[in-house]
Amino acid sequence: MFDNIFQGKIYKNLFNGEWVTSRNTIDIFSPVNNDLVGKIPSMSLSEVNVVIANSKISQKKWADMPVSSRASILHKCASLLDENIDFLSSIMQKEIAKDRHSCNAEIKRTADFIRFTADAGKQLEGETLGADNFPGFKKNKISFVTKVPVGVVLAISPFNYPINLSASKIAPALISGNSVVFKPSTQGAISALHLACIFHEAGVPPGVLNTITGKGSDIGDYLVTHKDINFINFTGSTKVGKHIAVIAGMVPMLMELGGKDAAIILSDADIDIAACDIVSGAFSYSGQRCTAVKRVLVIDDIADRLIEKLIKNIRLLKVGLPQDDCQITPLIDNKAADYVQELIDDAINLGATLLCGNKRCNNLIYPTLFDNVTAKMRIAWEEPFGPVLPIIRVKDIDEAINIANSSQYGLQSCVYTKNIDNAFNIASRLDVGTVQINNKPERGPDHFPFSGTKSSGMGTQGIKYSIDAMTRLKSTVLNINP
Ligand code: NAP
Ligand code: G3P
Repeated sequence: MFDNIFQGKIYKNLFNGEWVTSRNTIDIFSPVNNDLVGKIPSMSLSEVNVVIANSKISQKKWADMPVSSRASILHKCASLLDENIDFLSSIMQKEIAKDRHSCNAEIKRTADFIRFTADAGKQLEGETLGADNFPGFKKNKISFVTKVPVGVVLAISPFNYPINLSASKIAPALISGNSVVFKPSTQGAISALHLACIFHEAGVPPGVLNTITGKGSDIGDYLVTHKDINFINFTGSTKVGKHIAVIAGMVPMLMELGGKDAAIILSDADIDIAACDIVSGAFSYSGQRCTAVKRVLVIDDIADRLIEKLIKNIRLLKVGLPQDDCQITPLIDNKAADYVQELIDDAINLGATLLCGNKRCNNLIYPTLFDNVTAKMRIAWEEPFGPVLPIIRVKDIDEAINIANSSQYGLQSCVYTKNIDNAFNIASRLDVGTVQINNKPERGPDHFPFSGTKSSGMGTQGIKYSIDAMTRLKSTVLNINP
């Protein structure tokens, strides 16, 4: 099935139902061993322009297709994903150094996401409104409110979930009758092009899904300011997200950005459960998840017991290669590892207590845990996107909430306690998109609303919410003559 998408080591883009090359390419090296995984096209601005024009034309026919037919294509796509889990997983392991178990789970979850989206799309309904309940109006006016596609959706995805965070934009856009211009992250693009191939093989018509590869720094600004892009659905760093929001102008957008999710541990928490969740929450895929636990705020009287169990659980983590099911694998590149190291060094220099870790082998960083982190340290506030976890001791709930809310981010937070009143009080005071009670932060199940406050994003994802965002209400008013 995937034979058409590459020639030798050179991958191609999907354009109007054909696989095409560009004059220039970008080498994609594996973060695992620096081997060349493949070369992807580095598209020129004029090529980008031709693609968007094609997406614009193709959208009309797709929107006219019955939603049940669009849903059947998405169901086929989900089945093809399920059938190709092992192969796709092996590509992801090489390209983004994610462990085998997590790659497999991501692909399976994506197939389920696409199926659920196909069925949710069939529930797309409008409404009719009478006028006579508004002062001064009679019964002779009715508004027929329908949901229509926004047009051409630009989907931009990050490296860390090249299948899931791509499909979670593409599938809701497609079921709603939009066409999609899909720009995956450069590292991750080879996995993403395989996903595009699956949509194509499942029967998405020519031009309804087109892919664009090339560095965001070269073509990104052109893409997001293109006059024929009607919606931007972006996941990535806060820095790039804010930049897009500034330059894109009056285009609706969904933004999923960075996070600094806090785990708040009260004195009556079940420490065994909390410690186990915190370690998997902070360190799975080496902390390269927006919803990773990125700081622990623990009431002082329980901190020592928690720390003892955290260290025990960290010692159980396997460090090494993705294909060996290690949870701690090399970071996406050396630049990312350098940044994490900077945060570690800063914490040590400012007097944090190093409990374990601070060991590095190129881009592989061992799980690192700090106690006695203070507000002066960068690790208290910045998103490392790597395997380092700061513990901040607090005297009470108010101090925990105050520190949690002082972050520029507001993605998720979690609170561990057996006291349901405290849990709900804290949840209501935390300025984040989601609060988890007695569980680590996590996005799924993927039909739940997923959003961030402040620098963590805007708009709400989640199957029904993503469909709502990428459709608009259209009112046709019937005026009945007496
Ligand atoms: P990134 O560097 O911001 O890149 C994200 C995407 O934006 C890539 O496709 C990138 O392309 C593209 N891009 C770069 N410059 C652009 C521009 N000027 N215009 C348009 N697109 C541009 O993020 P990342 O390193 O891939 O991902 C890690 C970040 O994503 C973390 O901060 C993490 O918290 C966040 N994230 C958030 C969520 C969430 O749901 N809230 C989920 C996952 C990740 P290139 O690859 O070609 O540069
Ligand atoms: O960082 C990606 C985001 O979508 C998190 O998903 O399932 O790891 O919480 P999850």
